[in-house]
Amino acid sequence: MKIQQEALIEAIRHGIVDGDTTAIGVMDFDGLAATVADLKSAFSPNFYHTFAVKANALRNVLIKLQQLGIGAEVASPGELELAVSAGFSADRVIFDSPAKTKADIRRCLQDGISFNLDNEQELARVDEMIKEYPDTSAVIGFRVNPQIGSGKISSTSTATSTSKFGFALADGDNRARLIQIYADRPWLKSMHTHSGSQGCPLELMAQGISVITELCEEINARIGSQQIERIDIGGGLPVNFTSDEVTPTFSEYAAVLKDTVPVLFTDKYQVKTEFGRAIAAKNGFMITRVEYTKEMGGRFIATTHAGAQVMTRTAFLPESWPVRAEGYKPDGELRTENVVETDVAGPCCFAADLVAKKVMLPKLEPDDYVVVYDTGAYYFSNHFDYNALPRLAVYAAEKGASNSLLTLIRRAETLGEVVNNMS
Ligand SMILES: Cc1ncc(COP(=O)(O)O)c(C=O)c1O
Repeated sequence: MKIQQEALIEAIRHGIVDGDTTAIGVMDFDGLAATVADLKSAFSPNFYHTFAVKANALRNVLIKLQQLGIGAEVASPGELELAVSAGFSADRVIFDSPAKTKADIRRCLQDGISFNLDNEQELARVDEMIKEYPDTSAVIGFRVNPQIGSGKISSTSTATSTSKFGFALADGDNRARLIQIYADRPWLKSMHTHSGSQGCPLELMAQGISVITELCEEINARIGSQQIERIDIGGGLPVNFTSDEVTPTFSEYAAVLKDTVPVLFTDKYQVKTEFGRAIAAKNGFMITRVEYTKEMGGRFIATTHAGAQVMTRTAFLPESWPVRAEGYKPDGELRTENVVETDVAGPCCFAADLVAKKVMLPKLEPDDYVVVYDTGAYYFSNHFDYNALPRLAVYAAEKGASNSLLTLIRRAETLGEVVNNMS
């Protein structure tokens, strides 16, 4: 029996899901531990791995990852608070927001939280502020966009020529200017790129990292010492959403990287990674209940409680982010008969709020459960209202966002708490 069905049956037995249940997100902590073990063993010991908190900011997930000995990459102040509250010490955190306020920068310099600069205006701020913190233990880098092109999903591709992230290396005389920027600032000891994302071939990711590594070598040679000690290669390893198979694996990526940029696998640099999706996606799934079913224009429709509010990407970009769904009877038995073309709908009040469209599924009935696979990253842990996220995250950090194994996210309760907190 699959772990998803096992968890569903357990949840039914313990009354964690019942007729009032809307949607529940479940994280498999054993799976998470196995994935982190795979990650560590795939790369050489000079690699230090962090988890991209944006992928799953639930506090107990972060505590688990912290205990598993990896660091945290955070991209917003709320994520930073969550990581700190989950026990990550400052030296295990890397702050990557492209919109850091002066207060964010001061916090990093003061507390020794490493960070990556996004642009030259931010650099000018740090030039001023670092005078107050000459002995900061924060390792500071510049995020560089190698501008190597897009993967299959343009909205999440970060290394296109016009991507909003980082310093555009191929524009005008930017390469020479960046070399001078490093030469003028002995405190710039790291360089960062995040060139991958879902839909990116491994070779394209490795190519972006190769461009950055060559640049680091050139800068160090020009300076005449190894000023750049750390290369941060980001995350971006794609995930297979079509079956239970883990592909590509961390080992496959490491092999391509080693082939393309062998120096990364020596002791010359400390190499940081920031995987999010590849660590969490396949270790999480959602259970939602079917409230109603009906037929419309020849299509069978099952209305559930998991839609755009917990599956934002799939609802808005269904072709790019298809997910697998399966139906279970109210006692947890897998439905196998009477297959019909089905739309699995969410509860939100717009037509495209669908978890799955035109999928062949055994006919669902009210009070059935639908399990949505591979949703441990960027799904139930990411609230629909992104504006609320930083404050929600701080709030969640104070309250403790989840219990140990089963993370209950009854939608109405969550929204109620957010609303109360914002008022
Ligand atoms: C700087 C940075 N690091 C890491 C990640 C995590 O990416 P993924 O979840 O694809 O591994 C992202 C994703 O947007 C990112 O922007």
